[in-house]
This record gives sequence, C-alpha cells and structure tokens, in this order.
Amino acid sequence: MEPMTLRAVGLCAGIPTQKGEIRAVNDVSIDVPAGSIVGIVGESGCGKSMTARAIMGLMRSPARMTGGEIWLNGRDIARLPERQRRALRGSEMSMIFQEPMTSLNPVMKVGRQVAEAVRLHANVSRQEADRRAVEMFEAVGISDAASRARCYPHQLSGGLRQRVMIAMAMVCRPKLLIADEPTTALDVTVEAQILRLMRNLCDAGTSILLISHNLGVIAQLCDYVYVMYAGRIVEQAGVIKLFDHPAHPYTRGLLNAVSSLRRGGERLDTINGVVPNLLRLPEGCSFSLRCDACEARCAQEMPELREIAPGHKARCHLAEREAWS
Ligand SMILES: Nc1ncnc2c1ncn2[C@@H]1O[C@H](COP(=O)(O)OP(=O)(O)OP(=O)(O)O)[C@@H](O)[C@H]1O
Ligand SMILES: [Mg+2]
Repeated sequence: MEPMTLRAVGLCAGIPTQKGEIRAVNDVSIDVPAGSIVGIVGESGCGKSMTARAIMGLMRSPARMTGGEIWLNGRDIARLPERQRRALRGSEMSMIFQEPMTSLNPVMKVGRQVAEAVRLHANVSRQEADRRAVEMFEAVGISDAASRARCYPHQLSGGLRQRVMIAMAMVCRPKLLIADEPTTALDVTVEAQILRLMRNLCDAGTSILLISHNLGVIAQLCDYVYVMYAGRIVEQAGVIKLFDHPAHPYTRGLLNAVSSLRRGGERLDTINGVVPNLLRLPEGCSFSLRCDACEARCAQEMPELREIAPGHKARCHLAEREAWS
C-alpha cells in the first residue's frame, strides 16, 4: 500500500447555535498519499475551510470538531494534548490560510515573522533564522528578498503577502501543506507562479492538500480530487477520471459552469438554487433540491458514498447511469 501522509477518517465538525448544530463537516474522509497533491473543491460554504482547520487542530471557537480520526504519517493526532499538537504545526504540517492579511501579524516585519517560525521549531541563532527566512523568500520568488524582509505586511502587495504566507508555511519543510484558496485573491500571472511553486514543493517531498472553488486550478495541479457539497464528500476520483467521467450531478454542474465560461459566455452558468441551510438539511440527498435527475427516493434516502469504479466514489443513487451517459 502506498504510504499516506494524511489520512482523515470520518471527520465531523460543527457550530453549536441556539437553533441546533450547524453540521459544516459531516463524516468526511480524505487521504493524501505521500508526494501527491490532493484537491478539495466545492461552492462557498460547503465546509472546505472548516475541514482544513479541523485537520490542523485550529478550529475557531465556537466551531469544534465532534468526531473522527486524523492520522499524520501513521500517527493519530486528533486526540493529542494541545501542546503536542502545536509542536506538529509548522514542523510536520502547516497551512496557508484563505485570508493572508488576517494571519500575518500587522505590527511585525515579515522577515522577522518567518524567522520566528523557524526558531519555534529549530534551535538556531537569530542570525541563522533570519538567513533562512530570506533564503525562503528567494525560494518563493520574492525579488529583493533581504529588503522585502524588512517590510511590514501592509507595505506589500497581495501577491507578495501571499508569498510571505507560503514562505512561512514552508520554512520548516513540513510533510503536509494545507493550502486554502492560496491564489484566489491574486491576479492570473501571480496565480500561475504560485501554482508552479506548489508543484515544485511537492516534487521536493511535501504532500499538499489544496482547497479551491476553482476547477481550473484543481485540474492543473491535483492528482486526486474530492468534491464537497453541504458538508459532505459527494464524489472523489483521480483528476482525469473526475473531469472525463463525473458521476455526481453536482460535479457535472460545476464542470458545466466552467465550460460555459470557456465558450465565451458572459455569465458563469451556475447550478440552479443555493446550498441548503446546514441546520435543516433535506432528509434524502442534500443535492436533491437542485438536481435535474432527482427521483422519488433521492428526496427520501441519503445515498452512501460508494465505489462505482476503482478509486472512484460517488454519493448518488443514480451514479452509474450518470457517469457513462
Ligand atoms: N463562525 C461561524 N458561525 C456560523 N457559521 C459558520 C461560522 N464559520 C463557518 N460557518 C458556516 O460553516 C459552513 C462551512 O464554512 P467554511 O468556511 O468551511 O466554507 P468554505 O467551503 O470554506 O467556503 P468558502 O469557499 O467561502 O471559503 C458555512 O455554511 C458557514 O456559513
Ligand atoms: Mg473557505
């Protein structure tokens, strides 16, 4: 069996409210094999970031993890005491957050921030940490790295800040990098550079879990893809299989939205309707209310995530019919 960097099994996470629990992450299992880039794709609000935070052990209260196992390089880390969990962050696993500005310290020079990250995990002098920070800035394509290191976050463009975040996440050479929408705020040239950088990181031995709502980014970079909808995995497959033979009507809807853009359509041809309220999910399939193929049992019975071909799973009663039509 191939070695797994990350194996998340049956993750559940939610937010308690007066009206009940918002079940933002529902029985989500994700594998990231060593040396691969695995994607999570889905519309806004489907639970991608919360899944990432649950894996990192960085839930923001009142959100909390309510179940599941997280295996990092063969070790279950979900129930480790916070102190040990913290020691893993940075050295074994790190995350690039969706909001780079809010995750950088506004009153500390960016070089210092990266150097501090080094010193948290390695017993090195301040000079050595500074040197590694600048070296990392160069590695992520920050030109004039030494002088940029002396800037505060607000003095840098969005693209540079994102590179600083990546440098910070990478400086201790973690085995696993979780990148949550790493390029969403950037223009396409910078996006292309960052994506190339991630590919290089992966080639150098870091496994990556890449979160994006952009199927183009996913297609370019990922080896294997999970599609999330309303807190659950609804389809998973190798990237070519997923794009060539999408089995879930939701995945097909996402793909259609992209291809109509490519055809020069002005409007993103989105899927009808909106993501259901996570407090009141429909009884059957969560997608049934928006699904063109919906049949009577879809509204009554939640489909299992089942294997429809080797390495290809879908949570749809009609998956076989859909996949090959
Ligand atoms: N603090 C909070 N209070 C209430 N609901 C929240 C809170 N944080 C997240 N949620 C809800 O949890 C669900 C999952 O959120 P999450 O941020 O994981 O979505 P996402 O897939 O990352 O979306 P996006 O693509 O917009 O980043 C959403 O429905 C969101 O509204
Ligand atoms: Mg998010």
